[in-house]
Amino acid sequence: MVVPLVHHFNFHAMKPIISPSILAADFANLQIEVEMLNETVADWIHVDIMDGVFVPNLSFGIPVCDAISRHATKPLDVHLMIEHPEKYVEAFKDAGAHIITVHFEACPHLHRNIQQIKNLGCKAGVALNPHSHVQLLEDIIEDVDVVCLMSVNPGFGGQKFIENTYKKIMILKELISDCNSNALIEIDGGVNIHNAPKLVEAGADILVAGSFVFKSNDPAGTIADLKNISHIQPLQ
Ligand code: DX5
Ligand code: ZN
Repeated sequence: MVVPLVHHFNFHAMKPIISPSILAADFANLQIEVEMLNETVADWIHVDIMDGVFVPNLSFGIPVCDAISRHATKPLDVHLMIEHPEKYVEAFKDAGAHIITVHFEACPHLHRNIQQIKNLGCKAGVALNPHSHVQLLEDIIEDVDVVCLMSVNPGFGGQKFIENTYKKIMILKELISDCNSNALIEIDGGVNIHNAPKLVEAGADILVAGSFVFKSNDPAGTIADLKNISHIQPLQ
């Protein structure tokens, strides 16, 4: 599968990439949930991996990622909230990952981690916790395909969006442009239809949404609503 990770979001009339987070799905019906996503306008499927060490929660691991990929027709956007990601990235690639994102805070050798992911043929992302300043990415920004700004503290779905994220998006956008980087900006945590227009206006290219999609009465319609927001909508 070719990952449609094209850098076309400098022109903001474009629609954001929508990456629903499977963490909020019904795990007892994972195949049905993945097939449901296949039929929507979602672009990617966000897969949250938690190790109980880097974040204070466990989610699931490589066999579940593999099971998701066997039914998914969309690229898997794998978010590794784990320590020592270098031990597992190859296994996640084999389990169907197309984009692999590691955490800045978990990677003392981030440059090596990013090269490892790219050498496997995956797109490479780096995620930043809410307290980590965007400027920390200055010397890696040219090498990454995606920067994931955490708009909640990683570890749980359904948390409240942190408002400081808008400011971080704008600083990151400037850094990306100053460094001639092609990185896309992904926002993860507490995304909903109220903050999505403002996020896209600030410069977000990719929106992850878990609870807002899966706890809604109409997940497919909710995904379409997120996809069709435009920065020209009034800010909320
Ligand atoms: C948080 C995860 C998120 C989470 C988002 O640790 O990285 O991807 O699934 O869930 P919501 O959209 O419910 O905040
Ligand atoms: Zn995530």
